[in-house]
This record gives sequence, C-alpha cells and structure tokens, in this order.
Amino acid sequence: MSIKALSGKVFLVITGASRGIGKQIAISFGSILEEGSHVLLLATNLNALNETAKNIPTKVSVDAVSVDLSKATENKLHDIIMQSLKNKILEQFDRVVVVHNVGTMGNTTQCTNNLTDLQSWHNYYDLNVFIPAILNGIIMKIFHESTNIEKTVINITSLFGIQPGKLMAYYCTGKAAREMFFKVFALENPQINVLNYSPGPVETDMFYQICNEHGDQETKANFNDMTVKKTVLTCEQTVNRLLVVLKEHKYKSGDHVDYYDEL
Ligand SMILES: NC(=O)c1ccc[n+]([C@@H]2O[C@H](COP(=O)([O-])OP(=O)(O)OC[C@H]3O[C@@H](n4cnc5c(N)ncnc54)[C@H](OP(=O)(O)O)[C@@H]3O)[C@@H](O)[C@H]2O)c1
Repeated sequence: MSIKALSGKVFLVITGASRGIGKQIAISFGSILEEGSHVLLLATNLNALNETAKNIPTKVSVDAVSVDLSKATENKLHDIIMQSLKNKILEQFDRVVVVHNVGTMGNTTQCTNNLTDLQSWHNYYDLNVFIPAILNGIIMKIFHESTNIEKTVINITSLFGIQPGKLMAYYCTGKAAREMFFKVFALENPQINVLNYSPGPVETDMFYQICNEHGDQETKANFNDMTVKKTVLTCEQTVNRLLVVLKEHKYKSGDHVDYYDEL
C-alpha cells in the first residue's frame, strides 16, 4: 500500500510498542517504510520491544528503548531521541511520524466521588496526558528548523474520549484532554498532519482488563459479549483501517476519526 504519510525516509517514533495496538502499528508501518528509515520503539518491557523489532524488515534500522514513560522527564526523553538520532543528519529524513499510542486504563472500580486522591490523578495524567504532550514538543522542537521534513502526528484516542463511561473518569477525562491537546497542536501547526485515531474495541490486555476488572456489571457484560460474538477487533484489523485512513487522508488535521467512521 502506498501511503504518502509513510513514504520516503521516515523517522518513526511509537510509544507503547511492546504489545497490543502499538506493537501492530510498529509491524505494519515498519513493513511499509523505505530503506533508510529509522524507527524508535518505546515501552518498559525491553524483551517484548525487541520481539516487535524482529518483525520489522532489516532495511529499516530500529532502536528499542525501555523507559517508564510515567516517570520520564523532559531531559530524559530528549536524551532518548537524540541518542537514537546519533550519527544521523536530520535532513536525511523526508518525514517524521510520531504515534502517541501509550495508554493505560486506570481504575475502573471507583465512581467519581471516590477519586479524591490527588497523587493518583497525577500518576494517571503523567503517563496518559502530560508525557505525550511533552514528548511531542521535544520531537517537534528537534525538527523545528528542518522545514522540508514533513511531519505526521497520530494520537491513539478512544470513543471514551468523546463519550462518558461509568467508573472510567481517569480514562475518559485523560483521553478527552489528550485529544484536545492534539487538536490545539493541529490548529497552531497547519503544516503538520495530525490525526486522532480511535481504534474501536480491540482484543488486547487493556480490553481484557475491562472484561475482567470493570466495576460496572453492565459495561463488563457488554465487553465480554463482544468476545463471545467475536465483534471485538484484532490489532491487525484496526491498524489496517488506520493505514486506509492515512492513505485516503479525508480528515481535517486534528479530527477524531473512529474505526467505524465512513471514509
Ligand atoms: N484495546 C482497546 O480496545 C482500545 C480501544 C480504544 C483505544 N485504545 C487505546 O489504544 C492504545 C493502546 O492500547 P492497547 O489496548 O494496545 O493497550 P495494551 O495492550 O495495554 O498496551 C499498552 C502499551 O503501553 C505500554 N505502557 C504501559 N505503561 C507504560 C509505561 N509506564 N511506560 C511505557 N510504556 C508503557 C505497554 O508496554 P509495557 O508494558 O512494556 O510498558 C504497552 O506497550 C491506548 O492509548 C488505548 O487507550 C485501546
């Protein structure tokens, strides 16, 4: 599949690339990239990241870096990016593509009135909202002077970023805030291709966390029902759809595009 947003020599960064949707994005995007492209995969589990890397063709160079993104600082993230780009001239790239995929569910057993612990809010927002914003700024600043390098930013969002779910205040507000951040970013940077992609219900650890641990019995039953009826998507299905969305490019920069949206 020829996709403009992934053509030429690409510097591709994917967070949460050790499993689930992020792993599949790395494999599917990686298989399309041209020789001379470079991929940086981030997550905590280095062995799993290395497994992801093995599935990317060898004509593309890959760095797998273990980092706990919930605790990363601006300096640490800057160092990781610069280290990955060492020996490379920025201008050797035609494109920079950043996929902000990392995400956690947070607590799904407590109602809003019980979410009174400030540190728990901080912890959730650090990983799910603040770090994607900071990492994005760092990468954009590194490539700021390189005006000839096209930039694409994909934020993996959720239906729960635009629709409330019981006992999911961390997740819903985090997704909404993160999505709005990337909408503001898109407005300020009209030359950058920004997509908020909502992948649908996908069979990953996060999906099973809802099936097994969600405190609202109706939500739990609905998710379990999707596995019984086989309406839950595979990672491959949703990433194939993402590739079509990118290829067709019918969205306005910053738009929320869902797996089920008509193109
Ligand atoms: N699955 C769904 O149905 C669904 C639906 C809508 C939206 N989404 C969104 O899709 C994205 C991917 O979800 P998924 O279902 O693939 O989740 P997942 O299977 O739970 O994978 C989460 C990824 O994030 C990484 N991660 C978690 N905590 C981290 C930390 N502190 N530092 C660095 N990396 C960390 C994990 O790697 P390590 O364990 O190696 O750190 C893993 O690679 C998320 O943004 C999610 O909200 C998912």
